[in-house]
Amino acid sequence: MSFPDIRPRRLRRTPAIRRLVQETHLAPSDLILPLFLKEGLTEPKPISSMPGVLQHTRDSLRKAAAEAVAAGVGGLMLFGVPDDAGKDETGSAGLDPDGILNVGLRDLKAEVGDSSVIMGDLCLDEFTSHGHCGVLAADGSVDNDATLKIYAEMAVAQAEAGAHMVGPSGMMDGQIGVIRKALDAAGHQDVAILAYSVKYAGAFYGPFREAVDSSLKGDRRQYQMDPPNAREALREVDLDIAEGADIVMVKPGLPYLDIIAALRDHVSVPVAAYQVSGEYAMVEAAAANGWLDRERVILESLTSLKRAGAQITLTYWATEAANLIQNR
Ligand code: PBG
Repeated sequence: MSFPDIRPRRLRRTPAIRRLVQETHLAPSDLILPLFLKEGLTEPKPISSMPGVLQHTRDSLRKAAAEAVAAGVGGLMLFGVPDDAGKDETGSAGLDPDGILNVGLRDLKAEVGDSSVIMGDLCLDEFTSHGHCGVLAADGSVDNDATLKIYAEMAVAQAEAGAHMVGPSGMMDGQIGVIRKALDAAGHQDVAILAYSVKYAGAFYGPFREAVDSSLKGDRRQYQMDPPNAREALREVDLDIAEGADIVMVKPGLPYLDIIAALRDHVSVPVAAYQVSGEYAMVEAAAANGWLDRERVILESLTSLKRAGAQITLTYWATEAANLIQNR
């Protein structure tokens, strides 16, 4: 009878041995908290498909930001949600220095200053009456180049409101280059670009539509990437880095770990992942039914994203996860 000479179980025997050989360590500073600020609210409003996530008032936004920073969270990504009357064909509220997003960026700057990294979502879908990420051409498609002009102005408005970084998420061709040039021309050479370089047109963004009161009908398949494609992701990041992206991101997260790992090998800028609304909702729904150990799944999913190669993760659990990591 022969027995194994080599026994990998030796390194799993006690918690101390496992700790010694642990390869991936999560830190609170890896995490970015996405926040929704809704115009005209008097009370924070729960998002039913994302239990625990709120559309904030200006006051509750500041409080949530302060809590995140106290927990050691690495950054804050702000989404502005205008009231219905504030949405139009071209998303003009997104450019307005007094529009809800820019007001919120100023509030965040006043609350946390440079003690965290303040970012604005740079896209039109929260602001357009049709819910697309850009302006529409006569045939109803999203007009790439007309949209770029608006993104350029939006970037400058966000920088002027105090954003340390802008997060272009519209998947228009050339957006990073146009935004970089506009920021530089306006004297904002130091404002960085976190590029949503590889964003898939999948079904995991469902709850986000509720979070930003989106009126989108149809889908974004003409501008976001097709889920079956992987090699195309390298092309997208190469272009974005050549145009000036400082950080590149993959979105969604867990269903696209192969893409994160491929990017990690391919680029020399930091790689981020966005654990999106649908990923959040799945775990919350299962946990509410008692089918999953919620906290363990949260930490395991974030660890998996980091192990795959995402040095930074946007997650709606950022504050809670940061506290869990610190108290572990
Ligand atoms: C576009 C944007 C979206 C998300 C973040 N930025 C929506 C989309 O691309 O359809 C989704 C985030 C999530 O689902 O959590 N402004």
